[in-house]
Amino acid sequence: MARRKIIAGNWKMNMTPSEAVKLCAELKELVKNDDVDVVYCVPAIDIVPVVEAVKGTNVEVGAENMYFEEKGAYTGEISAAMLKDAGVKYVIIGHSERRDYFKEEDALLNKKVKKAFEAGLTPILCCGESLEQREMGVTMDWIRLQIKSDLVDVTADQVKELVIAYEPIWAIGTGKTATTEQAQEVCKGIRDCIAEMYDDATAAAVRIQYGGSVNAGNAAELFAQPDIDGGLVGGASLKADFGKIVNY
Ligand code: PGA
Repeated sequence: MARRKIIAGNWKMNMTPSEAVKLCAELKELVKNDDVDVVYCVPAIDIVPVVEAVKGTNVEVGAENMYFEEKGAYTGEISAAMLKDAGVKYVIIGHSERRDYFKEEDALLNKKVKKAFEAGLTPILCCGESLEQREMGVTMDWIRLQIKSDLVDVTADQVKELVIAYEPIWAIGTGKTATTEQAQEVCKGIRDCIAEMYDDATAAAVRIQYGGSVNAGNAAELFAQPDIDGGLVGGASLKADFGKIVNY
């Protein structure tokens, strides 16, 4: 069974609402590709105008974060139901910047993953090692721990719909991409981990992206790897290059 590639932009804390609408117009023709899923993960305040701006195109909208509670006194937070109602389809969970700067830990991320599924959103669950961990030789141990902790009580049927983004922290925003071999090796390791936790059919269905300095020059080789099903793209998703990545 061939997995459909998914190429998602992660805009991070860039683009005001009016800039966001302009970027959607600039990218509209460039990101056309019916053979892959194209997603813009955008800041919360951009969601409503971006959903409107991509209507009638092949682009789906994702959020960069959400909270796991249903509703209530959580000042500043956004619920899964709010995202769903606004027309969001995907939500990034556990990006390394959230784990690092906002101290989001696996137990919390597990709650977010479960809530996202419950609300009908597709999580893009991020994992990845630091340079120190890579140099110590514990990359796969660390990532297996992240995946196992973040997927506690998540069912096989849910994991079949899940997107996992492997993003080595040392490759994010640094211009230093993992080699194709490094990226493929870890993505395969994640798939093997899913096979152990669930079964072969689930492992064959889950989509695994690579992220970390993906650009128009390296996308084709990365996405050609047997276990890499697309990319999560930061910096290069904010410019015309994203069209080249989508049409690798
Ligand atoms: P980058 O970011 O492409 O700018 O390295 C990727 C990410 O953090 O998702």
